Amino acid sequence: MNAEMKRKNVLIDCDPGIDDCLALMLALQSPELNVLGITTVCGNVPASQGAKNALKVLKRYGRLDIPVYTGEEHPLKREYISAQDTHGEDGLGDSGIPDVAETVPMQGAVDFLNQTLKDREDVSVIALGPLTNIALALEKKPEAWKRTQAFVSMGGSFKSFGNCSPVAEYNYWCDPDAAAYVYRNLPVKIHMVGLDVTRRIVLRPDLLEYISQISPQEGEFLRKITRFYFDFHWVQEEVLGCVINDPLAVAYLIDPSLCSGIDLYTDIVTEGIALGQSVCDEKGIWKKKPNSHVLTQTDPVRFMHLFLERTAGARDPQLSRVLGQLYPGERFGFSLFAEGREAE
Ligand code: RIB
Ligand code: CA
Repeated sequence: MNAEMKRKNVLIDCDPGIDDCLALMLALQSPELNVLGITTVCGNVPASQGAKNALKVLKRYGRLDIPVYTGEEHPLKREYISAQDTHGEDGLGDSGIPDVAETVPMQGAVDFLNQTLKDREDVSVIALGPLTNIALALEKKPEAWKRTQAFVSMGGSFKSFGNCSPVAEYNYWCDPDAAAYVYRNLPVKIHMVGLDVTRRIVLRPDLLEYISQISPQEGEFLRKITRFYFDFHWVQEEVLGCVINDPLAVAYLIDPSLCSGIDLYTDIVTEGIALGQSVCDEKGIWKKKPNSHVLTQTDPVRFMHLFLERTAGARDPQLSRVLGQLYPGERFGFSLFAEGREAE
């Protein structure tokens, strides 16, 4: 990180969950980000279990100095439906990683979010789960949220298909009322990192093999927590590997050039068969000011370059060679001709 680059202060609201944990791993190992705190919300697993899992990741990277706050255990109105069928009962692929003994999560995620936004300048928020905590915090102290430097939400789907229904993505389907409240009231633009872009981010078996070769300990940890997720993806969608949605939201805050999108007015369906659908008004029919920047394109190879560099210590020119081998023919967003490699 060059000296003049200013680190971005960030709060991460999440439901760890396997891909949330990979997102935390990326955030903790990226010098561009200063993680001020982690809040957990009912989603993949109950918020209390998510908080324990967040502590497991923080301990792994020697960052138990970062506070973890447990948030809401129930959606605003709907019955809570977890995603433990996808992430395992423990939220980490039933990997049996022991709870952290040195500390425990605190209570009061909503107040922690609001107090931090009130007290600190230049704070960005990355939401990687249902928006229940965010909606309650926004309702309680709307003025605090005017200070948000950037708000990034992994959620929704513009022109892709849903993963909870033909049209709905899990985070917004789990608590559609919270998502609708946030999209209708947040005073800053919502950067929607939806399934249109995250579906292109697949942790493939050969990438896991590369990680294991260059960083055996990291490879072993990732294998342990993703096995369950790999099996789910094969059975459900015949995908070899697993879609890792949440790390793209973190990578996008680190380097917004990783994705491109369009400013649109978006609202969330709160009842009926399309419950949880993010309706993006592409043609401006509703004549409403855009409240979201909906991401539509990303460069999976550039993402993987960043992800592998940060989480596994991969380095060019080897990293570019391996990515060239694994993604033949894809245009790289970075120089293919890393030093020591002649242009072909
Ligand atoms: O639909 C994918 C999203 O729902 C991801 O954030 C995953 O972790 C779950 O929260
Ligand atoms: Ca998540």
